[in-house]
This record gives sequence, C-alpha cells and structure tokens, in this order.
Amino acid sequence: METKINFSGRSIQYTEDEIACVVQAMRDAEPLTQGRYMRAFEEKFATYQGVAKNSCYTTCNGCAALEMSAQLCDFNPGDEFVIPSHTFTASCYPYIKHGGRPVFADIDLKTRVVTAKTIEAALTPKTKVVVVVHLYGFAADMPEIVDLCRQKNLLLIEDTAQAIGAAIDGQKAGSFGDHAIFSFHSHKNLTTLGEGGMLYVKDEHKAKLVPLLRHNGHCPYNFDQEDYWKPAMGNVDLPSYNDRTYLPSNYSLGEIECALGAKMLDRIDQINAEKRARALKFIDALSDFPELEFHRVDTERHNYHLLACRMTSGPKKRDLFMRTIYEEYGVKCVVQYIPLHRYDFYQKLGFGTANTPNADLFFDTMISFPFQHWMGEDDLAYLLDATRSVMKKIS
Ligand SMILES: Cc1ncc(COP(=O)(O)O)c(C=O)c1O
Repeated sequence: METKINFSGRSIQYTEDEIACVVQAMRDAEPLTQGRYMRAFEEKFATYQGVAKNSCYTTCNGCAALEMSAQLCDFNPGDEFVIPSHTFTASCYPYIKHGGRPVFADIDLKTRVVTAKTIEAALTPKTKVVVVVHLYGFAADMPEIVDLCRQKNLLLIEDTAQAIGAAIDGQKAGSFGDHAIFSFHSHKNLTTLGEGGMLYVKDEHKAKLVPLLRHNGHCPYNFDQEDYWKPAMGNVDLPSYNDRTYLPSNYSLGEIECALGAKMLDRIDQINAEKRARALKFIDALSDFPELEFHRVDTERHNYHLLACRMTSGPKKRDLFMRTIYEEYGVKCVVQYIPLHRYDFYQKLGFGTANTPNADLFFDTMISFPFQHWMGEDDLAYLLDATRSVMKKIS
C-alpha cells in the first residue's frame, strides 16, 4: 500500500503574508544577521511570553539554547539534574556536556510529563537543577513544581520546545522557571524555515551574558574609542559572572528567520487553537474505543503539537495497530521518545538506570498519529476512518 498519510517532518504551510515578510527581509535586512529583525523578534517574543524585555534571545535552534542554558547552570563535579527519561535526547545531553549528571524522573501516565511528586522522588542531596519538559505540547504542573524548586533551592529549567503558547491560568509555559528554551524546528507549531530557537533567562545579570555566549564573545570595548577602527571594530571577551567564566560559541539565528519568527507570533495562537480543536474532535470520535487512551485537554494548557495515545491493552496490540493501519490504509503513525536510559548513548556514559515504570510503559504502548497543521479536513477524516476500522478489525 502506498503511503496515504505520512508522519511529515513539516508542521505548517506559510501564508502569503508570511512569505512576503521573508521576501521583504531578504531585500532589506542589513546586515543579514545580528540586526533589527533579531531584536524585534526577541522583544515581541518577550511580550508574548509576558516576561522582562531583555530576557529572550534567539538561537539557531533549541539545542543551542539548551547548550547555553546548561553553561549557565554552573555545575560543579558531582552535581545532578533531574529530567524526565521520556523526552527528546537534546533536552538532556547539553546538561551532561556542561558537567551535570542526569537522574531520571518518571512521568504521569495520563499527562506524559513529570509532576512535583515524580521530581521529588528523584531528588538527592546532589540535585542542583530540575529540567521540566512540556512534552507533546502540554504544560506540566508548574505552580507546584515552582514551589518545590523554591523550597529546595533548585534551579528550574523549562524545555518548552514543543509547547509554545501553552499556558496555565493565562501564564505561558516557559515563563515559570529560571531558564526556558524554545524550538522553531520544522516540526514545531511555529517554525522559522526549519531551524530556530529561543533562550529565556530570568536573572537579568546572567541574561546579559547570553549575547556574548551566543556570538563568539563579540562585544564593544569598555572604553571610548578615539578611532572606530582601533584597536579593531569590536572586542572579544569571555563572559564571566560570580567567579565563573564561560566559553562562547556561534549560535546566532539569521535575520530572515527572525523576521519570519516575529511575523508568525501573530498566528501562533490560531494555529494552536486549530490543532486543539482538531485533536478534541479526533479524541471524542474515538471515545467508544477506551483501549486508546488519549490525554484530552480542552484549554490552552495543551497546544497539541503532537497527538499521542496509549494502547492500554499492551505493546503487542499497539504493534498490530501500527502494522495494520500502515499496510491496509497507508497511514504512518510512529512511536516516540525512547526513555533516555534505554539508549546506547546514555548507557555508555553510565546513565543507563532509571526507576521510571510509567515512562517505560507509555513508550512501549504509545502511538503518535500524523498531526501536522497543514493536513486537510479530508486527510483528518481518512485518518479517523482508518483508525476506527483498524480498531474494529483488531478488537
Ligand atoms: C522536547 C525537545 N527538546 C529539545 C528539542 C531540540 O530542539 P531543536 O531541534 O530546535 O534543536 C526538541 C526538538 O527538536 C524537542 O522536541
């Protein structure tokens, strides 16, 4: 059977206005990086998030934002960070690269994200940092998690790569913690031509280091230059803070992507609302198959970046579903987020153990449906019909 509905790597189609905005920036951006479009995107993003003006910095992708967030954690030897095992690998390895040791927290089986309780169970006297991942687009229980981290004096980081626009009582995911990262990768609800990201840093002193960390340590001289070309146009320095010095990289996002990112902020709430409405319709239309356990959230707390469910009757039936819907209907569902401790990479580093039964069970029985925003109503109807027919056949 030919593939009828693919699990596409592209989430959205651009509008003519968005394309025009890119073309305009191609014509008039000067320079093509580090310019006014970058500053405009960062300011507009901070306003969208409801956070301080100089706290958000564009990056070339979410991973680059994670790398800088990890640098700013100031890990000492032996320090640990708590992170869900059920997440994308880039949520975790930057914190290992910069000196942290991961301890895996379990997820809640229904919401698929960590809770204050599962985080608390993973804390040790060596914990310095907690990384919460708003996976699938659902904002974790941030008020409770913030309280816990305050009580224990832990740095709180939000991986909001998948959850732009998700909010709890009006407060945006990615505005609760000390740092937050966002991804504008091709697959996300907001994408800046395939790659892009943002780093939020709450502490205003640390936030000031980010432009240097992000761009080769480039900075102005701290004296007035008599001649603008002497000793050279700009200085290079190592950002330092509290007796720490940090090595820079080049993690910049170009002007064209920034122009598009700012423009897309006008449409992200609409995209999220449309995805949520479709997800709810799909979930409700399958309510007579309780074996497929979805996470139904009818508020802005979920942006339904992804549409995932769990086959409660187990992995064999999950695989039968996947095979049948692909072979008989050409629908490509996928399985996502191998618990990190099960990857060779983490095992080789000595991080191959975890007490995360829910993450393991969810991963072994999960189904992620194709759910890109650009799918037409016909595609969705086909997806639903195919799902219902397969469920009837294999029940
Ligand atoms: C949860 C999560 N964290 C981090 C990342 C990394 O983002 P990027 O691909 O923009 O580097 C992604 C996705 O790509 C992700 O889904």
